[in-house]
Amino acid sequence: MRPFLIAPSILSADFARLGDDVKAVLDAGTDVVHFDVMDNHYVPNLTIGPMVCTALRNYGITADIDVHLMVKPVDRIIPDFAKAGASIITFHPEASEHIDRTLQLIKESGCKAGLVFNPATPLHYLDHVMDKLDVILLMSVNPGFGGQSFIPATLDKLRQVRARIDASGFDIRLEVDGGVKVDNIAEIAAAGADMFVAGSAIFNQPDYKVVVDKMRAELAK
Ligand code: DX5
Ligand code: ZN
Repeated sequence: MRPFLIAPSILSADFARLGDDVKAVLDAGTDVVHFDVMDNHYVPNLTIGPMVCTALRNYGITADIDVHLMVKPVDRIIPDFAKAGASIITFHPEASEHIDRTLQLIKESGCKAGLVFNPATPLHYLDHVMDKLDVILLMSVNPGFGGQSFIPATLDKLRQVRARIDASGFDIRLEVDGGVKVDNIAEIAAAGADMFVAGSAIFNQPDYKVVVDKMRAELAK
């Protein structure tokens, strides 16, 4: 498996001083900025859009930005995020009228593309698009809020997706999002994940590096 990536969810960052907080969490040894976009329609919360992504780029954030779209409709906002400096764009299949078209739109805009599965979303959405995916993101909580508890059934789903990725031969990251903590990250990695979103577990601690180092130590076990 490729090197593990830790992706702090900036949903739990300090929005009054977002640029500094994102720099701090990257300096603490994280890899990718996880950027949660919620529309108060597909999910019951409202967060940030392309302007904030542009602002982070203008502030000097050069790490990959992983835009997790929890919006409906999806397609209209994709070119805006590509222009704003997104590196990866993922979306929920239920929120797109034409999944293959949305994936193509993301790729044509120059970004990596991924599908996101809610805890109860079936995996059959993978059936005809594996060749177009750079990332598969399994939600381990229902989308909308940070700080929820990891849903244990995700572990079996991760094993199933890991097997599908390995059998496909494609180069696809397996990302997990929701309730990832120091004390469960090793188990989640053992189930097949190689990219870990963590919001509250990192940002709710005074010293980000301490948490990130502990996560890396768990991943090295
Ligand atoms: C939930 C978001 C997650 C969330 C993770 O809808 O997609 O990225 O912020 O937060 P924690 O790590 O606190 O569960
Ligand atoms: Zn997310």
